[in-house]
Amino acid sequence: MPTDERLSDDQLQRIANDLRDNWHTGREVDFEEAIAFHESLPASKQFATVLESADQPLLQPRAGVPCLEEQIDLLRYLQDEGGADLLPTTIDSYTRDNEYEKAEEGLAASRGSDENELNGFPAVNHGVEDCRRLIRALDAPVEVRHGTPDARLLAMVTLAGGFQSFEGGPISYNIPYTKRHDLATTIEHWQFVDRLCGAYTERGVTINREPFGPLTGTLVPPSIAIAVMLVEGELAATQGVRSLTLGYGQVGNLVQDVAALRALRKLGNEYLRDEVTVTTVFHEWMGGFPPDEARANGVISLGGATAAVAQPDKVITKSAQEFQGVPTKEANAAGLRTTRQLIDMMIEQDIDLGGIEEEQALIERETRALMDAIYEAGDGDVAQGVINAFDSGALDVPFAPSDAAKGAVLPARDDDGRVRIFEFADLALPDDIKEIHAARLGERAETEGRDQSFRMVADDVDAISDGKLIGRPTGDNGPAGGASDAD
Ligand code: 5AD
Repeated sequence: MPTDERLSDDQLQRIANDLRDNWHTGREVDFEEAIAFHESLPASKQFATVLESADQPLLQPRAGVPCLEEQIDLLRYLQDEGGADLLPTTIDSYTRDNEYEKAEEGLAASRGSDENELNGFPAVNHGVEDCRRLIRALDAPVEVRHGTPDARLLAMVTLAGGFQSFEGGPISYNIPYTKRHDLATTIEHWQFVDRLCGAYTERGVTINREPFGPLTGTLVPPSIAIAVMLVEGELAATQGVRSLTLGYGQVGNLVQDVAALRALRKLGNEYLRDEVTVTTVFHEWMGGFPPDEARANGVISLGGATAAVAQPDKVITKSAQEFQGVPTKEANAAGLRTTRQLIDMMIEQDIDLGGIEEEQALIERETRALMDAIYEAGDGDVAQGVINAFDSGALDVPFAPSDAAKGAVLPARDDDGRVRIFEFADLALPDDIKEIHAARLGERAETEGRDQSFRMVADDVDAISDGKLIGRPTGDNGPAGGASDAD
């Protein structure tokens, strides 16, 4: 079982040598020459420099198509017509599964047709030099965004190719993304990725790392997401990462979202060692979207408004075409501009929302309880602790497909639309906190004239795509619209 210890230079070298043979482009990677390429980039393409010196939330979309020229055109469009401050390259699903042969076939098929036969950019297949062409062709810094449990070769190729930010982590790219990878193995794989980022950092090329905060994207209680961010941040910092962007996905209740982003920033700075620069990223709603694009723009706008109040360092934007999958470049750029409009109209307003401090205090107390349980489960070692805590259910993620988590915790919204916990299972929270959740959910049950049940959870999962925040019963099941005296 891995422990939270720094890999030695020899271990780093040995793993890198083994990986080189997984796909032929691995052999193109030359660390010294990669350092020289990064040193040739202007400050405007240095990811950590741009992000950490911003005085307003920076906007970043998701985007990836298979072929290099199309990827360059797409990112230029998002930069010029969308006003993206930071650019992404979203990696295709075969690469995420380490299926480089299949990615190669998809890339070849895409080259010969007008259709995209992959759902992203297969960076390993493109190799180091094509990644550099991409980096050279753009004006903004570029991040690798993916969802790969074993991202070691992807990191080797893309970092050598000039990318300066790399998304993901051993928990956040395991638990929500895959069924069969065990946590001990993904931690070992990400220790290599983080050590590689640390090796660049030690040479003066700071590589930004971004654990994936939204997890399953579905009603994740903020304290669970924040605890996972802190664990991944600590594991990365041990390996030498010095620029960390901790993430959080919009739940849709304005007060809870602002409180959670503040708690994330505060606890990130408190838990992570002083040498680490902590920034935060807010993801616009990651759950189901309304099929109606006009309504989808409403969801995006609430995200923009939340960002204007909470002022995270970065916002990952959505498009109004989210319901149908990968958006057109026009829709993607429009999502950026919609978000920008909200932020620009609201950021200078001094908006005083009631209840933020109280909500933030609750989130912090819950997160600390989860972190204490993790350290305890590992006798002080966070790697062992997080493995044991997921195993026992002391830490859990709702709706997780992975066998590595119990997925027994169930969330539901309270009467105000804040995400609370309906079923705690073995989650390591103290009784007084459980009572707060139960009381809040009790209020909702009373309003709706029904018992707390799994029905409530299921209604909430569909609510935003159906046009509401809270999954209130409609029709014959109870009073509509939550009016307790309707009948
Ligand atoms: N281009 C743009 N967005 C993408 N997403 C996934 N792949 C791509 C891509 N190639 C987005 C989905 C969803 C999120 C999880 O990632 O639309 O918003």
